[in-house]
Amino acid sequence: MSGERSPPAARRDPESPVRRAAVLLEEAKGHERDGRVGEAIGAYREAAELANAAGEHRTEAEALRRLAVVYHHRNEGPAAQELIERSLEIARVMRDEVLAGEALNVLAGFAFESGAIDDARARYLEALELSGSDPAVRGRIEQNLGILANIQGNHEGALSHYRRSLEAFERSGDEKGRAIAYHNLGMVSADRALWEDADGYFQRSFDLATAVGDVHLTGLCLLNHSEVHVARQRYDEARTNAETALRIFDKLGTRLDKADAYKVLGVVYRETGRPALAESRLQTAIELAVSTGSVLSEAETSRELARLYQGMGRNQEALRFLGVAHRLFTHLDARVDLVDVASKVHRLEDTYFAVVREWGQSIESSDSYTFGHCERVAQYAVGVGSTMGLDEGQLTTLRMGAYLHDLGKVRVPHEILNKPGPLSAEEFEIIKQHPMWGIELLGTVEFPWDIKPIIQWHHERYDGNGYPDRLRGEEIPLGAQIICIVDVYDALTTTRSYRGALSQAEAVDRMLESRHWWRPEVYDAFMGSLLQRSEAA
Ligand SMILES: [Fe+2]
Ligand SMILES: [Fe+2]
Repeated sequence: MSGERSPPAARRDPESPVRRAAVLLEEAKGHERDGRVGEAIGAYREAAELANAAGEHRTEAEALRRLAVVYHHRNEGPAAQELIERSLEIARVMRDEVLAGEALNVLAGFAFESGAIDDARARYLEALELSGSDPAVRGRIEQNLGILANIQGNHEGALSHYRRSLEAFERSGDEKGRAIAYHNLGMVSADRALWEDADGYFQRSFDLATAVGDVHLTGLCLLNHSEVHVARQRYDEARTNAETALRIFDKLGTRLDKADAYKVLGVVYRETGRPALAESRLQTAIELAVSTGSVLSEAETSRELARLYQGMGRNQEALRFLGVAHRLFTHLDARVDLVDVASKVHRLEDTYFAVVREWGQSIESSDSYTFGHCERVAQYAVGVGSTMGLDEGQLTTLRMGAYLHDLGKVRVPHEILNKPGPLSAEEFEIIKQHPMWGIELLGTVEFPWDIKPIIQWHHERYDGNGYPDRLRGEEIPLGAQIICIVDVYDALTTTRSYRGALSQAEAVDRMLESRHWWRPEVYDAFMGSLLQRSEAA
């Protein structure tokens, strides 16, 4: 790409338009590398015009293509699109396949970033077909195809594209390209929990990046390698790597990378039993992520902070940050700058269940008679919900609601909760507060599932004689009615301080007498699910 290939005429006359266009193009690249965007734009434009006038279309196509990328980075989409299409047109008229492939590679990148994934893939493949014979271009296209496969959760595909990009860069002697390829291979290997492989790839990438003087990539290697160390519980190495990476990013002023380094440090402190330090690092990471507008980074760090609070028994805060992470991840789903959101959301929901279950059980531990109550209520409720044909999201809501339905009981005095014999009217008034106390305890927590109606109204009755709001009939949400009926069943069939456990048949008889407490379809589904359980047993 240098002046060495300039025609002899140009060498003899350094002021020839062809020669000047080539020099301007090189200058423009220098401006762009050093961040002088205004100068770069001017020089690219001038180079393209001169080359056009001199009939030097190769230079013209390259200048237009590079200009398109600069405009794209400035969020001037339509201008970028027009420039890249002109570059492609010139390459096609010249029948220069490598040049056309380069333009298509850029066009595909624009499509990719706008979320048009299928369009992007088609263009990358077309680019590969045209210019695959040039290893330098081939390396870059394979790399992009790898990134594309990766964000769609196709790790196998990503691995083979990255391997092919590595081969291509080896053939073209592109050390920096090799460093990037090893880095990407490290990332996919880490995603697939192939820690040995990831270790080796990050090490090789780090060595190459250091050799070619790519400081930013060196920092990224250290940072991402540190996440592998965390996964392998090598916390000292993880901390050293993350701290070195942090110093590099600090010098470079790349705040988003700093956010991720702080996140790793927070996780290391959490896992090594230093919660106060962990909390402070993770909060810094969130602040940095917010200030750079990186939703993905904010979401991931919120999840890590939630896990810290979970471990500290600070369940409200754990749920609050899980709620934040869930909202952010779901929000990201429609965008493309992230890796495999579906599996992230899935793992997040597992953490939700863990927190909610633990919290539910911590209430039971103050009340020996109701041990396992939440777990059984959750199981029965899902059985009833399935019988009624509820969807996945509604069943998840039922499970979450089941674990937390009696949360407010933590505020009921121990001696009332465990009183042998009947409660006085005053004592019952206190018990009746527990649905509202549960809602209060969840005050600032935002849930992705509508569980608060379950907590508030699981003691309302269809005939209007329940509490706390004396709702009636269809005013009571379906989920609250389902929890209500399985709650009663579990209370009847387990030993209480004031009586022994009833058999299933005895409980069913009692519930038949009270069937006006529930919606008819809920009552029927409950009896149906009970029948299914006994048949399965
Ligand atoms: Fe209750
Ligand atoms: Fe209950």
